[in-house]
Amino acid sequence: MAIPLQSRLPKTYRIKAIQQETDMVRTFTFDGSLGARPGQFVMLWLPGVDEKPFSVAFDNGAETKITFFAVGPMSEALARCSVGDLVGLRGPFGTCYEWKPGQHIALVAGGYGAAPMYFVAAETVHHGCTLEVFVGARSKEHLLYLKELESLPHVSLHVATNDGSEGFKGFNVQQLEKMLEAVQKKRKNEKGKMKNTDPIDQVFACGPEMMLKAVSELTAKYKIPSQLSLERYMKCGYGICGNCVVDPLGIRLCTEGPVVKNDACVKIEEFGKYHRDALGKKHTF
Ligand SMILES: Cc1cc2nc3c(=O)[nH]c(=O)nc-3n(C[C@H](O)[C@H](O)[C@H](O)COP(=O)(O)OP(=O)(O)OC[C@H]3O[C@@H](n4cnc5c(N)ncnc54)[C@H](O)[C@@H]3O)c2cc1C
Ligand code: FES
Repeated sequence: MAIPLQSRLPKTYRIKAIQQETDMVRTFTFDGSLGARPGQFVMLWLPGVDEKPFSVAFDNGAETKITFFAVGPMSEALARCSVGDLVGLRGPFGTCYEWKPGQHIALVAGGYGAAPMYFVAAETVHHGCTLEVFVGARSKEHLLYLKELESLPHVSLHVATNDGSEGFKGFNVQQLEKMLEAVQKKRKNEKGKMKNTDPIDQVFACGPEMMLKAVSELTAKYKIPSQLSLERYMKCGYGICGNCVVDPLGIRLCTEGPVVKNDACVKIEEFGKYHRDALGKKHTF
C-alpha cells in the first residue's frame, strides 16, 4: 500500500507532557495525532542527533504517546528533552494488530512492549474483546503500564518477574503456557461441549526477541494464531533502504512488519538467532 508523502516527511510536534515511568523509562505525549493503529511505529528525529523508530504507545486522535528506554546516544538525548521542546515525527508506518469483535485474546508484553500492548488493549476492549494480559519484567521496579491496564474493563492481568519481587517468579511466557495447558485439559474433559472452540482465539506479543521466539513456538505447538512485533534496524521506515529485511524471506519489517503473523515468523531463519546493525553486519542474540 502506498504511503502518502505527508507521512514520509517529518512534521514538527511539541512535547506536551513527560511521565517518568521508571529510572530509565519515560513516556512522552505529543500534541497531535498521526492516526496510528496499535502495533504501528513512528520515526522520531532529533535534529543533529539521530532518527530512530519507536512504537506508538497511544494515539487517541488528539495526542500521540511513545514510551522509551534511555539506553544509548539517541534515547539518552531524547531523555534530556523537556516539555515544550520540538521533535520531528514521520509515520505512522508498518502493520498493526488485527482482531475480530468479541474475541478472547492473550497479550504478552516484555520491556517497553507493555506500551503498545496497552494501546491494543484499550482499542480491543471497545470492540467487546476480553483479554488475558501477561506483563513481564526483570523485577518489580521495571514493570510498566500495570495501572493503566488494570483500569480497563474485561482485562485479567498476569504479572511475572524474573526475581519474584511481584507476581509469578519466572517468565510471563511460562504463565501463558500454564493457561494454554489448562485450557487444553478443560477442552478434553468437556469434549463435545466445547469442540472446535478454542477459548483463546489469538495471542499478540511485543517485547524482547527471545520472548517473542518462545511465544512463537508455544502458539505453534498449541495451534493458536499469533501476531508478533519484530524489530530490526530501520533507516527509512517505509520500504526503500532494505536495511530491515529478514533472511531468507526478504520481507521488510518496516512495511510487511513490524507486526507479523506467526505463520510467517516460523519461516524467518534469523528469528531468535541474529539481527543486523546499521551496516548490515550480523549480531547474535
Ligand atoms: C519497530 C521498532 C519499534 C521500537 N519501539 C521502541 C519503543 O517503543 N521504545 C524504545 O525504547 N525503543 C524502541 N525501539 C528501539 C529504538 O528504535 C532504539 O533502538 C533505541 O531507542 C536505542 O537507540 P539509541 O540510539 O539510544 O541506542 P543504540 O546505540 O541503538 O543502543 C544502545 C544499546 O542498547 C541496546 N538497546 C536498544 N534498545 C534497547 C532497549 N529498549 N532496552 C535495552 N537495550 C536496548 C542496543 O542493542 C545497544 O546495545 C524500537 C525499534 C524498532 C525497530
Ligand atoms: S527501514 Fe528501510 S526498508 Fe525498512
